[in-house]
Amino acid sequence: METAVPGKSKLDVAAIREEFPILREKVNGKPLVYLDNGATTQKPQTVIDSITDYYSRFNSNIHRGVHTLSQKATEAYEGSRDKVRAFLNAPRFEEIVFVRGTTEAVNLVARSFVGPRLRPGDEIVVSEMEHHSNIVPWQLLCQETGAVLKVAPFDDRGELDVDAYEKLLGPRTKFVSLVHVSNALGTVNPIECLTEIARARDIPVFVDGAQAAAHQRVDVQAIGCDFYAISGHKVYGPTGIGALYGRHEHLESMVPYQGGGEMIVSVTFEETKYNKVPYKFEAGTPDICGAIGLGAAIDWIESVGIDRIGEYEEDLLEYATRRIGALPGIRIIGTAGRKAGLLSFTIENIHPHDVGTILDQAGIAVRVGHHCAQPVMARFGVPATIRASFALYNTREEVDALVAGVIESQEIFS
Ligand code: ALA
Repeated sequence: METAVPGKSKLDVAAIREEFPILREKVNGKPLVYLDNGATTQKPQTVIDSITDYYSRFNSNIHRGVHTLSQKATEAYEGSRDKVRAFLNAPRFEEIVFVRGTTEAVNLVARSFVGPRLRPGDEIVVSEMEHHSNIVPWQLLCQETGAVLKVAPFDDRGELDVDAYEKLLGPRTKFVSLVHVSNALGTVNPIECLTEIARARDIPVFVDGAQAAAHQRVDVQAIGCDFYAISGHKVYGPTGIGALYGRHEHLESMVPYQGGGEMIVSVTFEETKYNKVPYKFEAGTPDICGAIGLGAAIDWIESVGIDRIGEYEEDLLEYATRRIGALPGIRIIGTAGRKAGLLSFTIENIHPHDVGTILDQAGIAVRVGHHCAQPVMARFGVPATIRASFALYNTREEVDALVAGVIESQEIFS
C-alpha cells in the first residue's frame, strides 16, 4: 500500500486504516472507497471507544452535580475544551465555546457580536467562495438591520482577488467573514494576509475553518483573527459538536446567544445575571459526549501529527489531480496554487449525479451537487460538480478506483 510521500516523513497508512472499522465495510458488494471526507470524516476506534466509555462508565450531567460521575463527566468535558484550545493554539481556555458546529458558530457571532454593532448602511464582507452557512446568516442580519453584504470575488482558478477584497473594505465595513479552505474548490486562502488587511483597519474577522482543521495546523494567534470555528465531525470526531474560538474581550462584550440553564449566575423575574465566558454561550445541557469524542479525535490527530497528515494528503491530491486531469472531457473546478483535501470536477456531457450513482455501484462514495456553495457553481457556470475529498486513510489505490469509475461512466454515457 502507498504509504510514503517521497522524501518526506512516512506514514503507515495500512495500520491507520485498521483503526477505522467502517473501512472494512462493503458497499454494493465492493470494498468501501470513502472519498466524501469534506462532508464528514470517518471515526477511528479511539473516538468510538471514548463515546462508548462515556455512556458505559460515567454518563452524567456536567457542572451540576457534586457526585462522582458528574465530576468525572465535567472533567472530561472541560478537558476537551483545553484540547481544542491547544489544537487551535488559542491563548486562553475561556476563549473556546462549544457549539453544534461551524454553522452554529457563524450564527452565534452574527447574532451576538455583529448584530448589536450594526447600523443601516454598514457593511459586512464575505468572499464569493463561501459555504451557504457563511452567507445566509449575514443575509438574515442585513435584512434585519439594513446593513449591506459585500462580496470579494475570486478568479478563474478559484483564488481570491486580494486587491478587490482590500478595495471592498471601507469606513462602513464592520465585519469580515471568510472561509479558510473552500469546501467546493479546495482553495486555501492566504488567511493571515486577509486578516491582517482587515485588522489594520480595525475590522474584526471571523474565519470558517470547517475544511481546514483536518488538513493543516491552525494557529489562531498566527492568523490574528478574532473568531475561528471548526466542526468536530470534519476532524474525525462526532457530529453535533464543534468549537468557536473568540478573543476574550469580544466574548466578554457579547450578549448571550441563547438563554437557559447553565448560562446564568442568578435569575429573578426582575433580573438575570449571566455566567462568565464561555459558559454564557452554552445554555442547557450541552453535547457532553460529543465534546469528549472531539477531544479524543484531537488526541488521535496529534498522535499522528497534523503536519504529516497534510503532507500525505497533498501528495494524494496531486496524484488524483494528475490522474483525473489526464482523462478526456474532464474540467477541474478549482485550480488554485494552494489547495487542500479535495478535487472538484465535471465530465463533459454527463451529469454529476449520474456519475455519483455509477461510482456508488462500485462502492465509491463521493459528493455530487452544489456542495452548499451555489455562488461558486454560478461563477463557473455549472449546476454541480463531482467532489472527491480526501482524508489520511485514503490511498492511491482508491484514487485508481475513482479513475476507473469515471472511465466506466464515460463508457456508459458515450
Ligand atoms: N459542508 C459539507 C460539505 O462540504 C457538508 O460537504
